[in-house]
Amino acid sequence: MFVGQDLYSGSSFVYDPWVLYARGLITAPNLVLAGIVGAGKSALAKSLYTRSIPFGRRVYVPGDPKGEHTAVAEAVGGKAIALGHGMANRLNPLDEGHRPNGLDDLQWAAQVTARRRELVGALAETVLDRRLTPLEHTAVDVALADAVRSSEVPVLPMVVDRLLAPNPTTDTDGRLAEDGRLAGHALRRLVAGDLAGLFDGPSTVRFDPTLPMVSLDLSRVTENATLISVLMTCASAWMESALLDPSGGQRWVVYDEAWRLMSHPALLRRMDAHWRLARHYGIANMLIFHKLSDLDNVGDQGSAMRALASSLLANADTRVVYRQESDQLGTTAAALGLTGTEQSLLPTLDTGQGLWRIKHRSLVVQHQLHPAELDLFETGARARGAAPAAHLTSDTGGIR
Ligand SMILES: Nc1ncnc2c1ncn2[C@@H]1O[C@H](COP(=O)(O)OP(=O)(O)OP(=O)(O)O)[C@@H](O)[C@H]1O
Ligand SMILES: [Mg+2]
Repeated sequence: MFVGQDLYSGSSFVYDPWVLYARGLITAPNLVLAGIVGAGKSALAKSLYTRSIPFGRRVYVPGDPKGEHTAVAEAVGGKAIALGHGMANRLNPLDEGHRPNGLDDLQWAAQVTARRRELVGALAETVLDRRLTPLEHTAVDVALADAVRSSEVPVLPMVVDRLLAPNPTTDTDGRLAEDGRLAGHALRRLVAGDLAGLFDGPSTVRFDPTLPMVSLDLSRVTENATLISVLMTCASAWMESALLDPSGGQRWVVYDEAWRLMSHPALLRRMDAHWRLARHYGIANMLIFHKLSDLDNVGDQGSAMRALASSLLANADTRVVYRQESDQLGTTAAALGLTGTEQSLLPTLDTGQGLWRIKHRSLVVQHQLHPAELDLFETGARARGAAPAAHLTSDTGGIR
């Protein structure tokens, strides 16, 4: 894909993580993109993925907090699914999901069971803000199995009912209700409490993996960190069955505003699993945040969460650094092993200019936007009342 101009040589700069991977130049097709507010990160992401669609690639945005990828998804013939309070759309976390080719019934049933168990567990953990105990695990498992047995289309309220009032036939020691009480009340928030209305019925929307682009628009989710995190957990699980289809082709999975997600352990674990699997399934993950030290704010020093966050960076062979605040230079340079020259370049970068580190190679690139792209990409920004861009691409690409 054409990206723009290499500012040192003046030549065109093209980039394709799958081609680089196929040629053995990188070992993981993931990309990390960091830069200050308004540096042009989202614009670069949108160009990279829209320009790759004619090459047969597809794009999934499992959570778009600003809703700025919606217009792009619609323009390329894809679909944006808007979720939020007071909207008609429902996501059923117990959906079977997309069935990949080549699985027999037994394998598929096992996969569905595992995914449901994992997802209900992750949802409970997100609301509880801690890991489940072994007793809670069992309680959730038994309630889930009972709900699945009792209905063609199991939904979360059934699991909550059975957690709070277990079926006597499944309750071997008479203590299931006690064991599952906290998990039951945590999940109850999603079906009857303040987070109700999104997960409590059969899905009204379908994830169609054949579309060129699918985006989950979370812009109407009112500022509720737990809800966003629960939604993202559901959405990524929902997309997962399609993502983990080896015959699904080459796909971008874009996490814009990723710093918001990094603080949720259940999501971070899921993301980490995706990143490790990326190359086997033809997936290129793109993770966008403001500064690399966002990764340092995850969990406590030396914690498992911090280690996960660092492994995300380690599993991305392409790191694009846009303008950084001067107090961030040391951290960024240390995290990426930048030279003194590279480091001193970072605060001088203009909109759309970035230091691209591809494995050990280093380039400075001006991302060039086509006027039609600028128009389309701005739609989301305008809707939010943001100021339009002060300039288009710089013709000489001069670094300030
Ligand atoms: N290569 C470019 N050439 C010209 N203008 C650009 C370029 N990239 C981005 N812009 C403009 O800069 C503005 C900010 O871009 P964008 O929204 O992509 O920034 P961002 O880094 O994602 O910001 P935020 O941190 O707020 O999400 C937009 O108005 C966009 O049109
Ligand atoms: Mg942005």
